Amino acid sequence: MAKRIAVFASGNGSNFQVIAEQFPVEFVFSDHRDAYVLERAKNLGVASHAFELKEFDNKEAYEEAIVKLLDEHQIDLVCLAGYMKIVGPTLLAAYEGRIINIHPAYLPNFPGAHGIRDAYEAKVSFTGVTVHYVDEGVDTGEIIHQEKIDIDPSWSLDTLEEHVHALEYQMFPGVIQTICEQIEREDTK
Ligand code: GRF
Repeated sequence: MAKRIAVFASGNGSNFQVIAEQFPVEFVFSDHRDAYVLERAKNLGVASHAFELKEFDNKEAYEEAIVKLLDEHQIDLVCLAGYMKIVGPTLLAAYEGRIINIHPAYLPNFPGAHGIRDAYEAKVSFTGVTVHYVDEGVDTGEIIHQEKIDIDPSWSLDTLEEHVHALEYQMFPGVIQTICEQIEREDTK
């Protein structure tokens, strides 16, 4: 049976779009009510939910609302694709092992919000893309899959960004498929 996927994104949502074009997505969640990803969801006919941390008393209450949504939709897998918040203990307690994140660098190198730029400025010979399980740290969870990109020293930052995003779009759906198959096997044990 198809696994039920939710995607979380804070901004542009190009990875969400690639996922939604290849899998049924139950809904996209954004922590910004004006995020472009919500526009993409509308165009693709995917349900969306958006609310902001500042609308709640604290992060616990915010994440309780997220858990409620996930529970209501019986979500099997949460794919973070440019979700710019650290996942807190409330969400982790409910869904740990079922939340994966895509990071635009070859972890453990260059974690954090500026993985592409940081690798570029460090003038390293390679970077890449990593998909990992989400834990309480910033880009520290168990690595599921990662691939490298050799950096040509003549590339601009924009060129590197294009290469990283192209690899993300190519890699993420395959990893999601593998994880869904794994969940299916666990569910039918
Ligand atoms: C991607 O580079 C992803 O790896 C990172 O945030 C970016 C999101 O881009 N976590 P988009 O919103 O999917 O276009």
